[in-house]
Amino acid sequence: MSQKTQAEMKVGITGVGMHVPEKILTNKDFEKIVDTSDEWIVERTGIRERHVVEPGTPASALGAPAALQALEMAKVDPMEIGVIIVPTVTPDMLFPSTACIIQEKIGAKNAWAFDILGACSGFTYSLGLADSLIRSGAHDTVLVIGAEIMTSIADYTDRNTCILFGDMAAAVVVQRLRDDLDGFLAWENGADGSGAKYLYMKGGGSLHPATHETVDAKMHYLWQDGKAVYKVAVEGMARISERVLEKAGLTGEDVDLFIPHQANLRIMDYTRRKLKIPPEKMMVTIDRYGNTTSATIPGALRVAYDEGKLHEGDTLLFATFGAGFTFGGVVVKWTPAGGYKTPA
Ligand code: UT7
Repeated sequence: MSQKTQAEMKVGITGVGMHVPEKILTNKDFEKIVDTSDEWIVERTGIRERHVVEPGTPASALGAPAALQALEMAKVDPMEIGVIIVPTVTPDMLFPSTACIIQEKIGAKNAWAFDILGACSGFTYSLGLADSLIRSGAHDTVLVIGAEIMTSIADYTDRNTCILFGDMAAAVVVQRLRDDLDGFLAWENGADGSGAKYLYMKGGGSLHPATHETVDAKMHYLWQDGKAVYKVAVEGMARISERVLEKAGLTGEDVDLFIPHQANLRIMDYTRRKLKIPPEKMMVTIDRYGNTTSATIPGALRVAYDEGKLHEGDTLLFATFGAGFTFGGVVVKWTPAGGYKTPA
């Protein structure tokens, strides 16, 4: 470790990538699958369409190309990666980790690799881990890949849930930065396990190992009490945003781009208004991709980059709320691609 203290060290995002399958399911398509309408879905969620894989496509198949795009932007060779973290609720399989499978696919032979389960907050959880691993002096470069095949756990007979989700992987390269650059200003993650009963997938774990009965009872599908989650999410996302901004010594008025988790446009708008952030400073991708769990925020970050909405030094706010309950917030300055310099 160099002479820099952990607090002085600059750590930030130097590359972002996203990969979605080509196939699109529109709200009109869903009118043929369940008793729903385009009007209901748009009005209640903000979703118009979502990308979906062909059945049998694993999370790593989207994760590897997303990772390579992020590495290309950061000008980082896969062999330079110290750690790969994959937040996911839809791993290729329970083990080995999807992170190990992607490590092999992208040739990151020097990295140790593991998955984490933070549900929709998996990305902010992973950024907290990546920042800490770099500040500890253990590593200079961490790859975080949110990779989700939500269609693999969606019940296409349940109109309450199946219309909400899409498939996506999105990745960021987190690195130690040059001293003249700013990256993470603050992050904060939290959990409230009393919310576990409102959003879950019960089958396939040690509590309910897969049997014919668990499959017949549809326990391998995601289940959500939408109304109960909504009530907590709407206040929870605003609260974690306020807390992390305060930690950074900022207010919503200092935010150049707000990238919230995209579960429901109404939750996003409520949080934005509470933080006094104008509509044009909030990234909205839920209309095109639906809720893609841990891939959502890095995916929206890549879309923002492609649309020319990111400028060097911009203050970005990420905020999430999801199953667990879990929640998280990150304030980070946008750094230019390739802004990293190997410390002496
Ligand atoms: O990402 C992780 C965290 N998750 C969230 O943050 C999600 C939070 N929850 C939500 O976003 C919303 O609760 C939903 C979008 C899931 C549902 O919206 P809602 O306005 O809370 O609807 P609701 O569940 O209260 O249902 C209202 C009505 C019900 O009919 P009745 O009982 O009033 O006759 C539902 O059966 O809407 C019905 N409904 C639908 N109708 C047409 C539910 N889903 C549909 C649908 N199409 N797809």
